[in-house]
Amino acid sequence: MIDLDENTVTDATLAQMSTTSDPRLKELMDAAVRHMHAFAREVNLTPAEWLTGISILTQVGKACTDVRQEFILLSDVLGLSAVVNALHDKKAKELGTQSSLLGPFFREGAPELPLGANIVRNHTAPEIVLYGRVTDNNSNPLPNALVQVWQTDEHGWYDVQAHDDAHMDMRGNFRTDAHGNYYFRTVRPLGYSIPMDGPVGRLVKMQGRHGMRPSHVHMLITASGYRELVSALYFGDDPNIGSDTVFGVSASLVIDAKDNADCPIPGLKSVRYDFRLPRAADNDTGRVGADPASFKAAE
Ligand code: BEZ
Ligand code: FE
Repeated sequence: MIDLDENTVTDATLAQMSTTSDPRLKELMDAAVRHMHAFAREVNLTPAEWLTGISILTQVGKACTDVRQEFILLSDVLGLSAVVNALHDKKAKELGTQSSLLGPFFREGAPELPLGANIVRNHTAPEIVLYGRVTDNNSNPLPNALVQVWQTDEHGWYDVQAHDDAHMDMRGNFRTDAHGNYYFRTVRPLGYSIPMDGPVGRLVKMQGRHGMRPSHVHMLITASGYRELVSALYFGDDPNIGSDTVFGVSASLVIDAKDNADCPIPGLKSVRYDFRLPRAADNDTGRVGADPASFKAAE
């Protein structure tokens, strides 16, 4: 019988879990236990604080619905999603375009649009063009790649927020041409707040944070034989470009709209951005982020 104290209980827990047959589960749980125990020791966690933590996690669980994943939001505001994305990028066979958060507003079944189409149904703001190439790691074009884009409108609302679930807007799916080119018209999206009406929002407010995401356009790009890319492009002049509440912005993903001589739709401000997809590899498991519907499907 060992004499349990706040230190020896860690080894006792690890010893009891040592019968775990799945080696990866064992690795994950061993590290989780070691770090959680170390955390409690470091902050000298009190029973009341521990209960508050449990209460917050309970509220986070209760806030989850078929269309809302509050745990992912918690992971996002704590920077954990960004860590996982960065690790995911490093595991690629080749260096591709950086990942960014999928976020909760991706929807399957957006309209297939011809190159050059505007993804906004009734725009009131000036049009801009997003264009560029999808290539492999050696700059070879990837024809027929699927480029799925979605964004907020010029007021900072996604379609499901501004309208109802049946309404698809500010999103579209394009196929690259024979030279790997994509191009479409849109309006400049406005930055917006993450959902602040739940337990994660309350935590963010208690931390004195603003909860805002800078203006961005999401991209999900797939091409047969290549690693799926989940990313987003961020407008560099947004006031919150340096303080994204979910840490999705990275220098390589920052853009601005200007006059580009080679823009395929002349006369409009445009953003040129080329995407690079690494070749697929066996360890490419899992999407960067997930939409709530996938949890429902997995139940
Ligand atoms: C988004 O970009 O859509 C998003 C990402 C994380 C949390 C909330 C929204
Ligand atoms: Fe977004």
